[in-house]
Amino acid sequence: MDAPSPSDSDPLWWRSAVIYQLYIRSFADGDGDGTGDLAGVRGRLDYLKQLGVDALWFTPWYASPLADGGYDVSDYRQIHPAFGGIDEAEALIREALELGIRTIIDVVPNHVSSEHEWFRAALEAGPGSPERDRFWFVDEPPNRWVSNFQGETWTQVPDEHGPDGQWYLHLFTPEQPDLNWNHPDVRREHEDVLRFWFDRGVAGVRIDSAALLVKDPLLPDVTGAEPAGGHPNTDRDEVHDIYRSWRSVADEYPGTRVLVGEVWMPDPVRFTNYLRPDEMHTAFNFDFMTRPWRGAELRESIDSMLVAHAPVGAPSTWVLSNHDVTRAVTRYGRDDSSFAFASKRFGIPTDLDLGTRRARAAALLTAALPGSLYVYQGDELGLPEVEDLPEGSRQDPMHFRSNGVDPGRDGCRVPLPWAGDRQPYGFSPGDTSPWLPQPDSWASFTVEREAADPGSMLSLYRAALRIRRTLAGDESLAWLDSDPDVLCFTRGSRFVNVTNLSDRPIDLPEHRELLLSSAPLADGRLPTDATAWLRT
Ligand code: NOJ
Repeated sequence: MDAPSPSDSDPLWWRSAVIYQLYIRSFADGDGDGTGDLAGVRGRLDYLKQLGVDALWFTPWYASPLADGGYDVSDYRQIHPAFGGIDEAEALIREALELGIRTIIDVVPNHVSSEHEWFRAALEAGPGSPERDRFWFVDEPPNRWVSNFQGETWTQVPDEHGPDGQWYLHLFTPEQPDLNWNHPDVRREHEDVLRFWFDRGVAGVRIDSAALLVKDPLLPDVTGAEPAGGHPNTDRDEVHDIYRSWRSVADEYPGTRVLVGEVWMPDPVRFTNYLRPDEMHTAFNFDFMTRPWRGAELRESIDSMLVAHAPVGAPSTWVLSNHDVTRAVTRYGRDDSSFAFASKRFGIPTDLDLGTRRARAAALLTAALPGSLYVYQGDELGLPEVEDLPEGSRQDPMHFRSNGVDPGRDGCRVPLPWAGDRQPYGFSPGDTSPWLPQPDSWASFTVEREAADPGSMLSLYRAALRIRRTLAGDESLAWLDSDPDVLCFTRGSRFVNVTNLSDRPIDLPEHRELLLSSAPLADGRLPTDATAWLRT
């Protein structure tokens, strides 16, 4: 196959890469139907190049009923028709690579869509059939596991398939039946899917819900007192065999095809077990994102992550937000910015000016740390969470499964504003309404406006990512003496980061040149909630 080979030039590219998370439905709409698509991305590659990113991570772009935003895949070898087709995906991978930008895709191994041919065949074939063995079908729910989206994890086979009385397991929605990873078909199929996409030039995969795949075959209840590796549906020791096989598949290809895990794991040792040299290359570090905006907390998070990663030789990652959590400027404007994922609720007061100052400071701080950096689309524009979406417009099953108590994740998935002063702000050609409505106030966040404003979030990100390139070769970090509310460290011999979380302006180290700051200095001093980058 004549696919471009993304990793030959620099096998270590992933260790310090800036990876832009592209939520395809909401990035840019090329064909004017109100939903983002591959054509939209192809038309905006120059924007991504100018931003200074090394890779794009696409959330699932496959055929899917979109019951969970595409994390319900009905065919891993097809692109969702609303997004484009395989040829277009290949063209996009190639065009991005020509600009030096690699492509990472999402794989979703824990579950498939209930429309996937395997699940349909299992329903048709009935109890006791080999088709059912690829899933978890039982005669009676054997436990009371709680879904990650609240509510039940067992659903009875729908009546239209005959009253066979069986139930099936889904750790997320009923439209996402869990696969049985003890079944050889399941293992073989996923390895084939990896090869299918590596053959088409993708440079890596982001692995969804990576710690959940293996279940205790006895399906016991969760007691809360499980020993490490003994939880019935999370982080079981056997899951590591799967990633060892996947690493062998990735290593069949020239250069480096990276495995990036979505591993929510508070224990740093259990977390970095996924990063052993024959498993994944990196995994998302969610610890930093869920810490309150306090110097000692952030420093402790940084140190513990660097310490945890050192023995396995993997670099840490830095993540300020993603498509599952409250947007950074909204989170950091709250008294308790540690509310990220599970504790979403309506009506938490936020101060967006404060949140924006802190998000700017956090953007520079995380960009200065050693390891790879994830930027969720729209964070480079400083978009706030849209908390007042009209009720009928919400789509996220998390919202519905909480009976409307949890706002869900739609508020961080609203289509990007590109230009102009009213909806759709250049997201679609013409004036088609986007799949989720954009706020009237977003004219000030458009790429067009921000690109022309040297004080904008976009200008800050562009400058930061340019300077960050000069730090890439050196993975060391050394703290300098400072007040506990000031995060002051060097990278290499010439670069210093100073983040001021104290309640007063501070003097900057002397005899240094100011490279960039997240807020203007006042009388040469760095204000509260700001980061400065300096060079000797
Ligand atoms: C994690 C993904 O990031 C989230 O969006 C999705 O709903 C769940 N996994 C289930 O696939």
